[in-house]
Amino acid sequence: MPGQIVAPCLDWLEGEVPRAEAFDDTYFSRAGGLEETRHVFLAGNGLPERWQGRTSFAIAEFGFGTGLNFLTTLKALKAQKVLEEGASPPHLTFISFELYPMTRDELARALSVFPDLATETEELTAQWQPVPGWSKLGFAGADLWLGIGDAREMIADLGREAAGTPSGLVDAWFLDGFSPAKNPELWEEDLLKAAFDVTATEGTFATYTAAGWVRRNLASAGFTVEKQKGFAGKREMVAGRKG
Ligand SMILES: C[S@@+](CC[C@H](N)C(=O)[O-])C[C@H]1O[C@@H](n2cnc3c(N)ncnc32)[C@H](O)[C@@H]1O
Repeated sequence: MPGQIVAPCLDWLEGEVPRAEAFDDTYFSRAGGLEETRHVFLAGNGLPERWQGRTSFAIAEFGFGTGLNFLTTLKALKAQKVLEEGASPPHLTFISFELYPMTRDELARALSVFPDLATETEELTAQWQPVPGWSKLGFAGADLWLGIGDAREMIADLGREAAGTPSGLVDAWFLDGFSPAKNPELWEEDLLKAAFDVTATEGTFATYTAAGWVRRNLASAGFTVEKQKGFAGKREMVAGRKG
């Protein structure tokens, strides 16, 4: 049974970077959140190249946070439309889990530092009304399935093909929990194994962390794991695939 909404307890660092007090960690990099998303999660998953020529593409994420990753992906999808002239980009299904959803005002404040995403931010905040369980928000060319609750429980709904839950396999994972030391729940082997099980054969994952025990959990779950150059000052990040 879905429970009550638990609010994140935020403070705001200089430059309007939100930080969750309970996890003592920020939602995105102070060195440039949008560029980090492009580097780690899009390029790390071989996007946008991998969705070219596809009619549909599914991304899943742990956790939704400010929605920066989702909106950056939506923006990349729109850019594709302009570039491809006549060809249509795939329909995007974006599934994201969040245990501590922000309020509409917090979301708007966090995203206000990304003027490039102003249009997409408005589309998101206009619909933002998180309720426990699954809800589907519609965007031009994309659906956002929001799973409000603990990812460790709600992951069981993927692949179940039941009404009111997202269906189909995941082509790319954005593994974006808070730092593994502070938010180990989102990097547990059981959760990563459940993610592996609902990943398409050619599916991939990417994450900003290269922590040794996270790499081992990913490998135990079945993924091949490869270190890549991290964003900005970070030496390494990790990406990989199912097959
Ligand atoms: C680094 S932030 C994600 C940033 C986000 N991807 C963005 O684009 O802003 C990590 C998120 O995971 C959420 N989270 C932590 N533990 C969770 C759990 N067990 N289930 C679901 N979400 C969780 C946190 O509340 C937080 O929003």
